[in-house]
Amino acid sequence: MTEPLLDAFRYTFRSGGKRIRPTLVLEACKAMGGDPEKAVWFALAVEMIHTYSLIHDDLPVMDNDSMRRGQKANHIVFGEANALLAGDALLTEAFSVLTKGLDAGLSAGQVVMATRILAAAAGFTGMVGGQVMDLRSEHKTIDVDELFSISERKTGALILASIKLGLIASGTDLNEMAYEAFCKYGFDLGVIFQMVDDILDVVGDPQKLGKTTGKDFKAHKKSFMHFVSPEEGRDLVKKMTEEACAYIEPYDKNSFFVSFAHYLERRES
Ligand code: IPE
Ligand code: IPE
Ligand code: MG
Ligand code: MG
Ligand code: MG
Repeated sequence: MTEPLLDAFRYTFRSGGKRIRPTLVLEACKAMGGDPEKAVWFALAVEMIHTYSLIHDDLPVMDNDSMRRGQKANHIVFGEANALLAGDALLTEAFSVLTKGLDAGLSAGQVVMATRILAAAAGFTGMVGGQVMDLRSEHKTIDVDELFSISERKTGALILASIKLGLIASGTDLNEMAYEAFCKYGFDLGVIFQMVDDILDVVGDPQKLGKTTGKDFKAHKKSFMHFVSPEEGRDLVKKMTEEACAYIEPYDKNSFFVSFAHYLERRES
């Protein structure tokens, strides 16, 4: 890769972030008795796709944001064209990284299954599709069900896929009930995550969040804050978190997933 592109790529990728998606990959693998070392490449690939989505999300043609992860957004530092290309490179390389699961001892079948899931979660039916719906919704009135469906795609799909990838990497033959419990938890967690993001856009501290607040709401970008107050939103998130935890509890031997959901519910960054 050429040097300027590599700089732009590294700039956002190495700038921290909560790393919740790779954490979910590794923990889902562990929860099923798998070796997390085998899931490392899957975890990295998901974080690369997430990072690309943030770089593109901040572009002037999208949310036009100038701060990300506590520093200037990628396009402010490297220009729009390089930011676009750095995102493209992260997306493409992510699938190459995914195949390194083979070097970590996963089977070709596991890697193919992970590729299918990640591609679906990142593409038309997932994150990209959700971003399209998000942009379109700026110019029309939507109801809360439509907002849930945007959130499921633009944010939830990758979070759910992270859990699925961890389960695949564990190599364990899951019974249908366990798989369903993880999926229901992951699905809810994704929507809850976006709801909290919308709440923090209104009441959060930009220092802690590392991004500008208030802009999306004022720009009439569709948000849960158009339907409920921050207090009502927090109450709803709490209730939904309890429901998500109830699904996973029987399979959550060391309570990681329950604690993680509560951490995401109460997060300030
Ligand atoms: C922000 O995601 C974008 C959304 C999907 C809401 P994160 O809040 O996970 O961002 P980082 O990775 O911690 O910066
Ligand atoms: C972003 O949602 C979802 C994706 C990046 C796919 P937002 O636009 O609300 O995320 P932030 O608030 O800019 O992090
Ligand atoms: Mg956005
Ligand atoms: Mg944004
Ligand atoms: Mg937001």
